[in-house]
Amino acid sequence: MKIFLDTANLESIRKYNDIGAVDGITTNPTLLSREKEHPEEIMREITRIIKGPVNLEVVGITTDVMLEEAHRLTTFGNNVVVKIPMIPEGLKAVKILNNEGIKTNVTLIFSSNQALLAAKAGASYVSPFIGRLDDAGHNGMEVIREIVSIFNNYQFRTEVLVASIRHPVHVVEAAKIGAHVVTLPPEILGKMMSHPLSDKGLESFLLDWEKVKKKHDYQI
Ligand code: E4P
Repeated sequence: MKIFLDTANLESIRKYNDIGAVDGITTNPTLLSREKEHPEEIMREITRIIKGPVNLEVVGITTDVMLEEAHRLTTFGNNVVVKIPMIPEGLKAVKILNNEGIKTNVTLIFSSNQALLAAKAGASYVSPFIGRLDDAGHNGMEVIREIVSIFNNYQFRTEVLVASIRHPVHVVEAAKIGAHVVTLPPEILGKMMSHPLSDKGLESFLLDWEKVKKKHDYQI
């Protein structure tokens, strides 16, 4: 399963890129609004830092404006995937962009039928928002299970990108179902890396090593 970071924070992107776990990035207007740098500067810089797919979102709501934005965003780097909202005008844009060889990610997916339509339009990725579904009293992971099964049944090449992840258990569940990608806020990647028993174990190994050094007058 691929891991994308769901952030527009350059410091976090550089930090976690160094641990070798980051396969790509997703951003959205809200994430960009939290940063102090100019959004275009951020988006261009992300495409330089990250080799894998960098998902940048359009803000237009008509097909023509989305296409114009998509063409501009793809000049930022050759790894750009254009995020398009799940609305009828968006599906039209996805179909055209797919014919032009431009990769797309249909975002704001909340049902398996929406994912099916996005895949049929030629989306490279669909992004179901599981945390927001859970918040609304639905079972987000059940929607992931349905979409993965539908895409497998009909051999769609569209990848299921699990978005709006709220905790590490979401990641394990998505991996068990066989989702292709999860996109994580940096703090969740941080939580996945740590375990109190790892810290406790290391502390006692280091203390015991001090005893070895003393006993043998050994300086390492
Ligand atoms: C990713 O592409 C989405 O924009 C993101 O995961 C949404 O997450 P949120 O529901 O925490 O805002």
